Amino acid sequence: MQRRPYESLRSARWFAPDDLRSFGHRSRMLQMGYGHADWMGKPVIAIVNTWSDANQCHAHFKHRVEDVKRGILQAGGFPLELPAISLSESLVKPTTMLYRNFLAMETEELLRSHPVDGAVLMGGCDKTTPGLTMGALSMDLPFIYLPAGPMLRGNWRGQVLGSGSDAFKYWDERRAGRLDEQAWTEMEAGIARSHGTCMTMGTAATMMGIAEALGLSLPGASSIPAADANHIRMSADCGRRIVEMVWEDLRPTQLLTRANFDNGIACAMAMGCSTNAVVHLIALSRRAGHALSLDDFDAFSRRVPVIANIRPSGQRYLMEDFFYAGGLPALLERIRCHLRTDARTVNGRTLGQNIAGAQVYDDDVIRPLDKPIYAEGALAVLRGNLAPDGVVIKPSACAPRLLQHSGRALVFDDYPALKKASEDPDLDVTGDDILVLRNAGPRGAGMPEWGMLPIPTKLLKQGVTDMLRLSDARMSGTSYGGCLLHCAPEAAIGGPLALVETGDRISVDVPARRIHLDIGDAELARRKALWTPPPARYERGYGWLFDRHIRQANEGCDFDFLETSFGKPVPEPDI
Ligand code: FES
Ligand code: MG
Repeated sequence: MQRRPYESLRSARWFAPDDLRSFGHRSRMLQMGYGHADWMGKPVIAIVNTWSDANQCHAHFKHRVEDVKRGILQAGGFPLELPAISLSESLVKPTTMLYRNFLAMETEELLRSHPVDGAVLMGGCDKTTPGLTMGALSMDLPFIYLPAGPMLRGNWRGQVLGSGSDAFKYWDERRAGRLDEQAWTEMEAGIARSHGTCMTMGTAATMMGIAEALGLSLPGASSIPAADANHIRMSADCGRRIVEMVWEDLRPTQLLTRANFDNGIACAMAMGCSTNAVVHLIALSRRAGHALSLDDFDAFSRRVPVIANIRPSGQRYLMEDFFYAGGLPALLERIRCHLRTDARTVNGRTLGQNIAGAQVYDDDVIRPLDKPIYAEGALAVLRGNLAPDGVVIKPSACAPRLLQHSGRALVFDDYPALKKASEDPDLDVTGDDILVLRNAGPRGAGMPEWGMLPIPTKLLKQGVTDMLRLSDARMSGTSYGGCLLHCAPEAAIGGPLALVETGDRISVDVPARRIHLDIGDAELARRKALWTPPPARYERGYGWLFDRHIRQANEGCDFDFLETSFGKPVPEPDI
């Protein structure tokens, strides 16, 4: 290994000089009980830890961070734990999406402002993976992403339960009167029974897998269940490796090329990814200077089949099964022909080298390419007069009869109105209608996961289990059904979705990638002239900043001023 000189480390600027400032830095380290030998001549490693008492998915990070420190110390580095906002997907309101960029800003500025040479980023719960990695990419210090790992399978009365997906499924059963209170309460204690992230192929599993395919994690890291002892060892390995990365000066700008991002998309498709992958991966790619577009996702989707049989796209299995079946390296080895195997990764080797010989131990969990779950990929991007900048759908999770469908629009301006109507036994609705929710995009509502609009109770009782639903919202990666999402431009900025009226016909043709509002251009122009924007949601604070700078879904929902192309690089701080 080629070692750079100690004096070239940025932390040396804080600790090495014989001047008044450095006296202050050193004396304050001594105040904490450290000695000179703890840091002198060593890389200082930030551990950006998104642990909190309010994040169920990261509960083990309080312990794992000690394993990361152990690895750093063994390799001759000096660890500094720096906590960052935790973003529990289930508890943080109105939506963690409002705060993904906040975490990205925090990560970038934590690394910039502290005397650190590299970082281990600890995340996993949905927005924490993109938030941490976006910020670290912009700061461009060597880093490794440490995934929290999925929780164990859910268990209830001998049945396996999956995060999100089964809650949605059984809630519909309860609304239809087929599940009693006792069963529902028991399920509450069985569906999430260990630390770790959602164990369906939701946004967390999707983004942890993508981070590994991008080359930002150690090989195999993303599939290890949080409660498995292998996760402890992987944490220590991250600590050992990051010290070497600092000596090698292996920074993300040297690591990441377009090839890494192509691998990220190919992996997402083969996993049967969450639709949220689109927004986050586009944002990440723009930070890295290799901007992806919706068309890239559609193109990969047409050639890479879904081969991970993990719910909700798959029929049976969960992330714990995926790990036992060989995990991500085995899945990537199966799709090797769709990968750019020369892409480099954080362990200093190429992706192709990392996955060479990885075995699949269960062909039903990780399918062969000729026996896929879904022959085309996980996502499709549709365009038309209703969505000039695209809508995203997960065809693999949608009833086949809805993939080419024309129906009457039933339009709601906000979520409470939709929710109230969905409980109305006299609602004028059929299973062929298309439910529309608007003002739920990035500007409209911070882009919450409202996109799996509830099927009206009246229809559930008739046995309807899926119908087309259109919105500018996102949906949870654990959701399923005929949901057309991320409609852009969104309604709150005057996109065509704002102009749809109840009773209009909407035509959807997924194979042709087309969505069309069946009214004439003149009528559309007439409605546009009458449209007025909704009142501002925030008149101060972070929400005010968000509203002014958030980009649309097809551009990744980053803040304009955080994108790499926005301006000159930020200089190193004066010390
Ligand atoms: Fe944390 Fe689902 S709630 S990953
Ligand atoms: Mg989720």
